[in-house]
Amino acid sequence: MVSGKNQISRNIVVSGGARGIGRALSRYLLEAGHRVYIFDIDEDELKYTTTTHLSQYHREGKVDSAVCNLRDVEDIRSKVATAAKFFNQKIDVLINNGGIASPQWSEGKTMEDPSTYKEWQAYIETNLTAPFAMSQACIPYMKFRADDGNTGAHTSPNAGPCIIHIGSFRAHQSDPNQEGYASSKAGQLGLMHSMAISLGPLGIRVNLIAPGRVKVAHESREGDENETDWEGQISEKDVDDHPTNRAGRPKDIADAALYLIEAGFVTGQDITVDGGALRKKR
Ligand SMILES: NC(=O)c1ccc[n+]([C@@H]2O[C@H](COP(=O)([O-])OP(=O)(O)OC[C@H]3O[C@@H](n4cnc5c(N)ncnc54)[C@H](O)[C@@H]3O)[C@@H](O)[C@H]2O)c1
Repeated sequence: MVSGKNQISRNIVVSGGARGIGRALSRYLLEAGHRVYIFDIDEDELKYTTTTHLSQYHREGKVDSAVCNLRDVEDIRSKVATAAKFFNQKIDVLINNGGIASPQWSEGKTMEDPSTYKEWQAYIETNLTAPFAMSQACIPYMKFRADDGNTGAHTSPNAGPCIIHIGSFRAHQSDPNQEGYASSKAGQLGLMHSMAISLGPLGIRVNLIAPGRVKVAHESREGDENETDWEGQISEKDVDDHPTNRAGRPKDIADAALYLIEAGFVTGQDITVDGGALRKKR
């Protein structure tokens, strides 16, 4: 539960929360006492996550969701308005998590194959344009309003509203055939620091969490049905690659998000959560 004199329950929009890191993020945020609205394109998985996986919170009216295609700006604008209604017109936190998470071109293609052009467009639209469009649609519900001046909310000890982009260590490091993914994730870095400066006067902080490799098969309906666990997905190499002597968990990303939500003096930062792997010579 949310505790401590400066901590309050926030209204949080999570994109791509039907499965994977987004599902874990949604659950840990709810466990911490926040309210969550989830967007995803996968209707069946989203329904399962909202009404079965998170059933207790759903019954209590703390979580709801909407099917939204992050490649469709009109859909984004309309579903953000729906989320804002659920939150009584006040969104505190946006987490831009949804996207194409597979780093390589499909089917072993290289960039010489002209058909990767379409995949390039999908990476850029889903992983870079969508966080811009989601942020643009949420800002009117996040920025400090005239009545915040009356209530003192703009000078309260609370950390204020914030936007968190989920990037990737692939913004900095590549294996072969990751041009689309790496470029979209590197683009998010520019979006993040530019937004941090532009949105400062509105009282909105903007940061980016760059996960390292995080196994997520257990964070899905299929994972639940097959009783997949995180440990079973981890190889010896997954451990050896990390100075932390263990592989990454979805909870590591949620811990970073919970930190950033309360970190009122932190904006414009790229927080890499990769167990130190980027620092280790391969
Ligand atoms: N898992 C990792 O190792 C890892 C590492 C670095 C960065 N990341 C980043 O973390 C985020 C989550 O990754 P994940 O591993 O949980 O991936 P995932 O594929 O398990 O989940 C991504 C979610 O986004 C949704 N999505 C995809 N396209 C969409 C669209 N057009 N509209 C709406 N929803 C859409 C999917 O349906 C899915 O629920 C991604 O941004 C990914 O790039 C993941």
